[in-house]
This record gives sequence, structure tokens and C-alpha cells, in this order.
Amino acid sequence: MKLAIASILAGSVAAFAPSPIGNQYAATSTQLHARKPFISGNWKLNPQTKDEALALAKGIASSITENSPDVDVALFVPYVFIESTMSSVDGKLSVGACQVCPQLKGAYTGAISTSMLKSIGVEWALAGHSERREIYGETDDYINAQCLKIIDEGMSVMLCIGESLAEFEQDLAGSVCAVQLKKGLKGINREDLDRVAIAYEPVWAIGTGKVATPEIAQNVHAKCRAIIADMYDQEAADAIRILYGGSVTPESVDDLMSMPDIDGALVGGASLDASKFGRIINFKSAVPV
Ligand code: PGA
Repeated sequence: MKLAIASILAGSVAAFAPSPIGNQYAATSTQLHARKPFISGNWKLNPQTKDEALALAKGIASSITENSPDVDVALFVPYVFIESTMSSVDGKLSVGACQVCPQLKGAYTGAISTSMLKSIGVEWALAGHSERREIYGETDDYINAQCLKIIDEGMSVMLCIGESLAEFEQDLAGSVCAVQLKKGLKGINREDLDRVAIAYEPVWAIGTGKVATPEIAQNVHAKCRAIIADMYDQEAADAIRILYGGSVTPESVDDLMSMPDIDGALVGGASLDASKFGRIINFKSAVPV
């Protein structure tokens, strides 16, 4: 089990001895720094009914067994399904919100606050998803306000970042992510970083079927970790979980999860199919764990 080994290694990194049969047995960065893998689903505006949502959630929960890797699993679901989804999954996974309002109360018709979410037991919320940025015009400042409110409330935030196709083609992925990270995390204290996860989601890979190669994703993840080290310190950078999102499927997850700086996945389309998402939760890293 990944975490079991990760925990041992975290306690005694120096005790890790390279395998005599080559680097296929080398510990990944995830293991060395005890970052527990995190597989999450983003249901967006799906499914269409409560019955479908509950059937899907139950199917996903049933794929988490004692033989599954030791991963955190979360589903980010439409507000109206949160409570019923929570009660249908036997505590096997977290159920989070796809976004929050940075204000706590007042004249914000249609908005949902962190205090409302916390009062029904929600621990996780997304912020900064590219669809919120593009379709709803959410700016880095607004996303930062959401992140701060989620953290203030004692909840955890998954901050989504990622470059457009044009930016990718101009080799700007690293610099776009640096800006989004710095602006999104502004004002979040070092001691609260254990309640922050980052999801790198290149916009050109979301819902397009064009998954980033493991090498492309690894390269950006490593850059993001360096930015976190710059903003905070190396220990913080080594501890924070950076997930990849964008057309993750059962076919692509194993190679992605074998990369040293890829600590999990944020999955849209494939999280709407219990057997596909179940396979993603039960990923098989090429690095024996
Ligand atoms: P996708 O969506 O897996 O369908 O590409 C990912 C996301 O938007 O989080």
C-alpha cells in the first residue's frame, strides 16, 4: 500500500536503500514525502436527477475496498445532491462543493456560503476551476477571496489552475500557473497549507479527450512545487498535494500516477461512470508500492 510505505519512508528517509535491481523500485517523491494520493471527481452540472446521483455515488463507493490503494477520495457534486450523496457512501469518501461564495451572508441571490456548507458537514470545496474562470468570469482576486473564506471556515480548498491552449503552445504553462498560484494562495498562512490541494488542469485537456502526457504534467507539477517552495518553504512544497486534471481515464491514470510529482487526479467525465472512476481510484502505479 502506497501510504504504508510512504509513512515508513517519511519517518526514516535515510533508511531507504535503492533496490539492487534498478530504479524501477526507486521511491517516488510522493512516497518520500508521504503525500497521500488523492483521487477526486468533479461532477459539474451532472447527473440530471437525485436518483442518478445516488446510484452513481453508491457505485463509486462500492469500488473502494480493502484492496484499494490507500487514497483519499472526494466527489465534488452539485449543491442539491451533497447531503444525500454523503449519506449514501458509508463514509468511504468526502463529498465537496464545486464552488463557494466568498461572502458569508447578505444580498447575493443564488449564492452558497462556506458556513452553510460547513453546517452540513462539507469539508472540501473547489476554487478556480477554469469553467468558473471562463464562463462565470471569476477572477484571480475573486478566487483568492473564495480560498481565504474556505480556509477561514476551517474547511479545505482544492485550487484549480491551468493554462489555455494558446498559452501552452507559447510555452507559458509554467508562468500562467505561477501567477494563478501566487494570486490564488495570497494571504494563506503556512500553517494552513495542509488544508490546501492544487489541481493542475490544462484548459486544453479538459473535456477534450486530450490528456496531457505524463511528462508534460510532471514538468508543470514540478514547477508548481518549486513555486510553492518559493512562496513558503521546501517542506511546505514537499507536503502539498498537486493533482492532475484533464481527460483522465482508466487508460491514462496509471502512467500519470507513476510520476513523482503527480499526487492524484481531478476527474470530470470519467467520474460520471462508476466503473471508470472505480478503476481510476484503484490505479496501479508503475512504481511498486
Ligand atoms: P475532464 O474534466 O476529466 O472531463 O476533462 C476535468 C475537470 O474539469 O475537472
